[in-house]
Amino acid sequence: MNPQVSPAPHLVLVGLMGTGKSTVGRRLAHKLGWEFLDTDDEINRVSGQTVRQIFENEGEDRFRHIEHEVLVSACRLPTPYVIAGAGGIVLRADNRELLKSAQYVVWLNAPLHVLIDRIGQRAIKADGHRPLLDASPAERLQEMYIARESLYREVATHEINVEGLQVQEVIDKILNSIGLEATS
Ligand code: S3P
Repeated sequence: MNPQVSPAPHLVLVGLMGTGKSTVGRRLAHKLGWEFLDTDDEINRVSGQTVRQIFENEGEDRFRHIEHEVLVSACRLPTPYVIAGAGGIVLRADNRELLKSAQYVVWLNAPLHVLIDRIGQRAIKADGHRPLLDASPAERLQEMYIARESLYREVATHEINVEGLQVQEVIDKILNSIGLEATS
């Protein structure tokens, strides 16, 4: 557990695209009786634009700025939240410092080939919120894997290997490893 205390005992899920942060996070929050927030959805809500629209109209830097502001607000929430952080949330050093103030930061990880299988070689463009994977998705994921592994490790209080696990199994592992009990 990280030493600094945040306003409420939030649990933040981090990890690359395809690790199941949003699906796991939503169900985990329900199990714990906590609220749920997905940073991409929140970016959408506060900006009135989709992730893809922000990337295309204003560029990645602007997206990362809004993402940072959303994370700042999320970390200040006064009641417990499960927060699904988007894959790139660890890129900014100030975000990593914020993450270290959350009580639990769970890194959902899997071998690269598993993530590539999950994301697939399909027409990623149909997947609205992942413009970074429009071209050469497998290569892009590999680059991200290499560039970000140490960043996820830096902020994580717990690491879960999701390879071969169903959503419920991932949730059980998280609950076991952080020592929290489901309320439903
Ligand atoms: C990104 C991950 C996406 C989304 C955007 C950038 C990244 O979120 O924020 O496409 O840089 O890894 P998910 O991790 O929820 O897919």
